[in-house]
Amino acid sequence: MVREKACVLISGSGTNLKALIKSSREYNFPININYIISNTKKAKGIKFAKLHNIPHRVLDLNKTIDLEFFFTDIKKKKISIICLAGYMKILNKKFINRFNKKIINIHPSLLPKYKGLDTFQRAIKNKEKLTGCTVHYVNNKLDSGKIILQKRIYIEPYDNEQTLKAKVQAKEYRAYSESIINIFR
Ligand code: GRF
Repeated sequence: MVREKACVLISGSGTNLKALIKSSREYNFPININYIISNTKKAKGIKFAKLHNIPHRVLDLNKTIDLEFFFTDIKKKKISIICLAGYMKILNKKFINRFNKKIINIHPSLLPKYKGLDTFQRAIKNKEKLTGCTVHYVNNKLDSGKIILQKRIYIEPYDNEQTLKAKVQAKEYRAYSESIINIFR
């Protein structure tokens, strides 16, 4: 099986990246993680790139020089899909147009509810009974691209931000891999 080549963009702990790398070790998973970009060298997730010997770079994709470097590299490496995994920067239009329909993101809410930040905190404050995660294509509007897959979880009365985050993230790891399987099926 010929696998598509993927680039994952991170900013933080990289647990979704870790889950994607794990899935990519399964024999029938449709992508390989060939490149990892972080916008900050402080991103803990970089350790997964090092651990698995995956090429990685720290780039500011809002700077023209870094963006041009990235475009060249992506072409050279024949990357065909870009996965945002906790990437906390807004991508500029040039980037999104260049990779139109080839960028996907995972978001910790049932979109279109709770776009943006602090999704767990806001869901609890609003006494929601249900939340979850969404994998979607990235377009020029924040957290608004076409939905690929959603997974739901119930918010229990005893849940707080931390317990909710743990439950949603556990679902995210499966949701992201399942979405990628769906895209290439
Ligand atoms: C995830 O909850 C994801 O939904 C959001 O950012 C978080 C990243 O976590 N976009 P990690 O860096 O993958 O651990």
